[in-house]
Amino acid sequence: MNTRQKVIIDCDPGIDDSLALMYALSSEELEVVAITIVCGNVPVELGVQNTFKVLQLMDRMDIKVYAGETKPLVREYVSAQDTHGMDGLGESQIEAPKGYVAEVISAAEYLYQTFKTEKDISIIALGPLTNLAKVIERDPLALKNVNRLVSMGGNYKSFGNCSPVAEYNYWCDPDAAKIVYENFAELGKKVEMVGLDVTREIVLTPNILAYTKRINKERGSFVEKIVQFYFDFHWEYEKIIGCVINDPLAVAYFIDPTICSGIEAYTTVETQGLSIGQTIVDEMKFWKKDSNAYVCTSVYGMYFMEEFIYRIFGGEQQEIHKMLGQL
Ligand code: BDR
Ligand code: CA
Repeated sequence: MNTRQKVIIDCDPGIDDSLALMYALSSEELEVVAITIVCGNVPVELGVQNTFKVLQLMDRMDIKVYAGETKPLVREYVSAQDTHGMDGLGESQIEAPKGYVAEVISAAEYLYQTFKTEKDISIIALGPLTNLAKVIERDPLALKNVNRLVSMGGNYKSFGNCSPVAEYNYWCDPDAAKIVYENFAELGKKVEMVGLDVTREIVLTPNILAYTKRINKERGSFVEKIVQFYFDFHWEYEKIIGCVINDPLAVAYFIDPTICSGIEAYTTVETQGLSIGQTIVDEMKFWKKDSNAYVCTSVYGMYFMEEFIYRIFGGEQQEIHKMLGQL
């Protein structure tokens, strides 16, 4: 019997999205049925190319890729190429495999059709929520059968990374994020929010990177090529040696929710003004609304890093545990 959980990964690769794809494709608990791309870190066509680069590395060119929305619902599109490089993969110059293109139908069309027929599918969303919002605009009941929606985005008590209060994915398309959270409230479902409160704890350091190369040269070298730019960015703006890898935590949390703990609360997103993109988490129930989100607030970071290394690069779990204690 196939007990693997069917997931669609909606993403904007992106350096950390690529690491998240590697994590998902190395995890036997998951059946990645498709990858849908949204504009975010990079324009969609670059996101598609980068996805094929990762699929080639992971020897999974069988997975279908769907190109999605090319701009946010309302606000002007602002990429994160300052963070991820002009190519979205740290200006690594890795070549995309030749002859591969996205499927003919759009990501929103694919998602809409799939939600109609698949009764047991989940979404791991690693970019702005524009593709999903488009589906909801077409049919507000479209997501009623979605099993779980885990979204990397937002921040509750942690500060933002695009403004004092906003995280990139929700800041890039706040209207889409608001539509998704509010639609989930109407459907009586909960978005599982893996935001900066927890992802900030996940730092890939140069030492960990060196170790991954020792245990898997091919994958370690790929990661080394794409993260250098991210290292530089983190040093310049946050004075961190290494880089925060947000998106793979959402995949790890999807597979094993005990990796994070959190709170249930009504949650929405500001779409205007000074605090545009801010996630508002009504933990104290001022609005007396039923919760529509599970907001992750703490993470077992060491456990994540052990799983990240073991799943993607292999090696011995005991040795990884010991090494991490020294790194
Ligand atoms: C999120 O924004 C993007 O830059 C990353 O890929 C991640 O999904 C972090 O704020
Ligand atoms: Ca992302």
